[in-house]
Amino acid sequence: MALVPAHGAGCGASTTPAVPVAGGGPVNSEVAWDTFDPQSYVQKNYSALRDDDREILRRVRDFFADSDLRDARCVDVGSGANLYPVLPLLPFARRLDLCDLAPSNLDWLARQVECYDGIWDPYWQVCAERPSYAALADPRARLAAIGRVLRISVFDLPRHAWNAGTMFFVACSISADRVEYERAIGRFLDALCPDSPFAAAFMLGSRGYRVGQRWFPAVELGRAEVAATIAARAYELDFREVRPDPPLRDEHLTMLLVTGRTSG
Ligand SMILES: C[S@@+](CC[C@H](N)C(=O)[O-])C[C@H]1O[C@@H](n2cnc3c(N)ncnc32)[C@H](O)[C@@H]1O
Repeated sequence: MALVPAHGAGCGASTTPAVPVAGGGPVNSEVAWDTFDPQSYVQKNYSALRDDDREILRRVRDFFADSDLRDARCVDVGSGANLYPVLPLLPFARRLDLCDLAPSNLDWLARQVECYDGIWDPYWQVCAERPSYAALADPRARLAAIGRVLRISVFDLPRHAWNAGTMFFVACSISADRVEYERAIGRFLDALCPDSPFAAAFMLGSRGYRVGQRWFPAVELGRAEVAATIAARAYELDFREVRPDPPLRDEHLTMLLVTGRTSG
């Protein structure tokens, strides 16, 4: 069955003008994000907790638990149809903002924030292996109380607005443009106050991905490239490459988790 490239009718929510791409792939504003199907995405990627995601979640959990974070304004950028990056922030957050552009994802997020589906319970159980998480008796009610869904582009994030943040599979997976990939990282880190802890995940080696019958672009990245982009703006960095098990659509794809603190 033919795949339909998801560009040509972009929802154009960013106020930032598109930058032409040397390689010819679509820039972020050219992608039809309104065709992103959250149900297909969740079903394919998160309906069963994979060992690789469990490993990433444990590391993010331990990182935030050891970060001396409390009563924080937290943000997850490009949340899409994934709740697991926000779960490790829950015990330490006063407010938790989940940001995206796609109307379908924003609707999905609003429903999940109100009362999240049972598929996220195994993810929370991983968090609850640590006492600071286990102490939170009702994570569902907590997310409903402090979660807020925002329609905002990563390129339009306000400066120094949050004290902790996550951004999973976004900078690498929102266009085919390296300049936009770098700007997305810069805007994410700049949205956090100086010295804020953050966790960001990247799909290394990806040229794009399928959601239902739609094809979305990616920037093909290597570990050194991501490390160089982030090291310019952060410190206390830790890089963990996780090989998907079982392999994802393509054998050479790996996931890179980066944790650290933002520079001033
Ligand atoms: C590959 S998905 C990642 C979703 C989720 N964070 C995860 O971990 O699976 C990329 C997400 O970025 C969102 N997105 C695309 N352009 C964006 C932009 N300019 N600002 C913020 N989010 C954007 C898409 O709607 C989609 O939800």
